[in-house]
Amino acid sequence: MRGNTMCRSRGFSSRWTHLVLVLSALCCLLTPTLSVKHENFKTCAQSGFCKRNRDYADHASSLSSSWDSPYKLDSSSIKFSNGVLSGTLLKTIDTTIAETVRLPLIITFLESGTARITIDEERRQKGEIELRHDSKARKERYNEAEKWAIVGGMQLSSGAAVSRDAEAGSTKVVYGPGSTFEAVIHHAPFGVDFKRGGETQIKFNEKGYMNVEHWRPKIEKPVEGKKEGEDGISEEVAKETGEDESTWWEESFGGNTDSKPRGPESVGIDVTFPGYEHVYGIAEHTGPLSLKQTRGGEGNFNEPYRLYNSDVFEYELDSPMTLYGSIPFMQAHKKDSTVGILWLNAAETWIDIVKAKISANPLSLGIGGHTDTQTHWFSESGLIDVFVFLGPSPKDVVRSYSELTGYTQLPQQFAIGYHQCRWNYVTDEDVRDVDRKFDKHSIPYDVIWLDIEYTEGKKYFTWDPLTFPDPLGMQKQLDAHDRKLVAIIDPHIKNEGGYGVVDELKSKDLAVHNKDDTIYEGWCWPGSSYWIDCFSPSARKWWAGLFQYAKFPSSAPNLFIWNDMNEPSVFNGPETTMPKDNLHHGHWEHRDVHNINGMTLINATYEALLSRNKAEEKSLRRPFVLTRSFYSGSQRLGAMWTGDNQASWDHLAASVGMILSMGISGFPFAGADVGGFFGNPSKELLTRWYQAGAFYPFFRGHAHIDTRRREPYLAGAPSTEIITQALRLRYSLLPAWYTAFHQASTSGTPIVQPNYYVHPGDEKGFAIDDQLYLGNTGLLAKPVTSEGAESVDIYLADAETYYDYFDFTTYQGPGTKTVAAPLEKIPILMQGGHIIPRRERPRRSSGLMKFDPFTLVVVLGNSGDAEGELYLDDGESFEYEAGAYIHRKFAYSGTTLTLSSEDLSIEGKKTKQYLQTMMDVRVEKIIIIGAPESWKTKSEVGVSEEGANKSTPVKKAALSWHAASGGKAAWAVVRNPAVAIGKGWKVDFAS
Ligand code: NOJ
Repeated sequence: MRGNTMCRSRGFSSRWTHLVLVLSALCCLLTPTLSVKHENFKTCAQSGFCKRNRDYADHASSLSSSWDSPYKLDSSSIKFSNGVLSGTLLKTIDTTIAETVRLPLIITFLESGTARITIDEERRQKGEIELRHDSKARKERYNEAEKWAIVGGMQLSSGAAVSRDAEAGSTKVVYGPGSTFEAVIHHAPFGVDFKRGGETQIKFNEKGYMNVEHWRPKIEKPVEGKKEGEDGISEEVAKETGEDESTWWEESFGGNTDSKPRGPESVGIDVTFPGYEHVYGIAEHTGPLSLKQTRGGEGNFNEPYRLYNSDVFEYELDSPMTLYGSIPFMQAHKKDSTVGILWLNAAETWIDIVKAKISANPLSLGIGGHTDTQTHWFSESGLIDVFVFLGPSPKDVVRSYSELTGYTQLPQQFAIGYHQCRWNYVTDEDVRDVDRKFDKHSIPYDVIWLDIEYTEGKKYFTWDPLTFPDPLGMQKQLDAHDRKLVAIIDPHIKNEGGYGVVDELKSKDLAVHNKDDTIYEGWCWPGSSYWIDCFSPSARKWWAGLFQYAKFPSSAPNLFIWNDMNEPSVFNGPETTMPKDNLHHGHWEHRDVHNINGMTLINATYEALLSRNKAEEKSLRRPFVLTRSFYSGSQRLGAMWTGDNQASWDHLAASVGMILSMGISGFPFAGADVGGFFGNPSKELLTRWYQAGAFYPFFRGHAHIDTRRREPYLAGAPSTEIITQALRLRYSLLPAWYTAFHQASTSGTPIVQPNYYVHPGDEKGFAIDDQLYLGNTGLLAKPVTSEGAESVDIYLADAETYYDYFDFTTYQGPGTKTVAAPLEKIPILMQGGHIIPRRERPRRSSGLMKFDPFTLVVVLGNSGDAEGELYLDDGESFEYEAGAYIHRKFAYSGTTLTLSSEDLSIEGKKTKQYLQTMMDVRVEKIIIIGAPESWKTKSEVGVSEEGANKSTPVKKAALSWHAASGGKAAWAVVRNPAVAIGKGWKVDFAS
């Protein structure tokens, strides 16, 4: 059944808001089942360039080996110097007169082992084209995606070496670590094969789908019944191209016509991963982590995966439809080998995936064959600009990608605690009341959120004077328990006279423009609105000014920001966004930059918070921004969430795979609305969702304005108690989470990790996306996502011993194990061989845990050894960059029977000062799971700590041992070893 649009309560004017809300609440009660309005979004067949590229691929495939790709590399043009190969591709457009189009090619080889292929169009580079309709748009192909997405790793390879094989018509470049990578560039037809260790890993244009729609003038054809030359029709003779021109010059959809001043200009190419059966990435979609085929067949999609950031109302599950954000980064994986590509193009993009069975030879009857994953990428405009990563492990690929696009921001500690949100907390007293009730029920939380209703008539940077008369008092109450407020600020600015923000936006000319270069007006929450153009440096500077305390009245230092609707969402725009022929700063068409647009807003907000904080006296604090829309690189600036999900079991289930996908896509600070945005979850669903949410990197409860209140203390018995336990579990594991964030921020490692990433050699686990590992802690959680479940099956990939997190029941891997999961239990196992840091004292917020003692959980593996890490800093400032942090490695040796703490930090200017503040923070407990029976009679252990002059006086600490019973492992506890968390120490279990 179709949902009713009224259910979204898009209030256009505050006068009507109340009535609309009442009506929509009623209609939501009547129509509880929601589903996306397909007719609002294009299918591939409805998108001109998508259809043209698919048709082109079909044509090439149908001709098979007789298909002659018209792209050839002019051998005489090839040059190579300092890791850069350049040349000219010639596209033959008329074989009879050998007419060609010149496409400059650059292949860059980077010191990191990453390669990059860039293909442009010479005529457009030189600006030698004419635009139709007196357009003010730029003539070049968009070449600034790099400016937004790429921040490092561009050092050119010094060792890359070129050689020419004239006979084979190819050029070879050897590069990468130990010169083990190779790019073989075929001249005619053009194509590139990338090899690692002599084996081909990635092939470009193997299928011949490469397509660069070059610029051409529109040739008007005489209209029947009219004389040539009349009504502006050119007298040129129509040229038969044989191509489908119907969408070249104009395209209409949903009542909007795109004027396309440059005509057809799409780019596309096929990328084959030979021998690879699994591909992951290209977030954001709702389908499985291991991507599906898109050319039909049982269980497959019929549509390509689409990347065109959109506000997809009531989005559907298991779909290749586009969502709010785009990360055009794909990994291909097979046993012990991973490779990947980044398609750096900001325009609308579609990706087809086909998994082709290739038999070994015609007589082998399928035996010994393999699967090639053939992908086909095409974008509406811009360059072909692709980065190539050759692995060999998933870690290597994600690291190389993150080196280019940036590592995830190390957030403030509060940001990884629990966030309480709803649309809306309606008054400042409401906020204070929720805050008090969390305390009354001893439920920890760090942040409370304000959705759009806090503003005066949806005017950002204002407070509704009737409902929020005392914002400062409210923020002060939160601050008393080190809690924060996040307020929403969207990119649409209300078009209302006398509103200072809009007056400035207009007078300074900082908004997005129409195609005729006048200010663009559209509809969003406030009604008639304009959109800040964050591509403009002046607009970003102005935006930063708006966040200064003096400019944003009653904003306090514990206020942070949520940027929503930044796809951008335009209620009356084509596909709920901006017209593609709108113009941005530099006169780039919206078409060219659409997928980057959302990132430019959070970039501006991040900078704004930084500059606001700079004005404060204390040390600069890290910004926190949540975004709905994103692109490669957004991970540097904040967190994302998966938008408007629904309070249903299948949405809960889908959230796990979606968050895992964000992790391997280099943007791991991800979450989904806990409880589901639309609809009212049952108590059981809400409880299970909190248990799952405790394993989301970004953990926030949120709900639509029409839903019933659902703060955890309202759930009632037994749910309130169970949810409180889930929240406390999250808080006790914050040291492990923060360490995982640190790893993500330095190496790109996902914070929650799928099976294939942790066990790249285990083929059986490559498609698993419903269980997750937390960083490298060995914690393996399997959220319960079905109603009435009493147990779950957890897949163990290796031959390790795993233990139940709560009662130490032992499970021997490999294989699928059934683990009890009554409502009060989150199925979590601990993989042997790890040491997990915890803080166990329940507090109101994470800020209040700053000086709490630690517990170390030592989980003994088959080898009898275990290892773990802890990263710690002040959780708010940037002083860690000057060495103000603790980074320890804990190692337990089953041979020497000692547990030791080693320093992994690099001393900096602020190290000593920080360590001083942490001097009294100690380890209060060590739990050893799988403790040997020989400890039965042991009652104490020896503890030595490095003293001021590196002396190590030995003291004793009490040990108690508990026997194994009923399938549960033996365990031991060392009480109060009292060693400092920031120092080197040793606990000796042999003494
Ligand atoms: C859409 C967002 O996805 C949702 O989370 C928010 O509550 C509404 N906008 C209102 O701001």
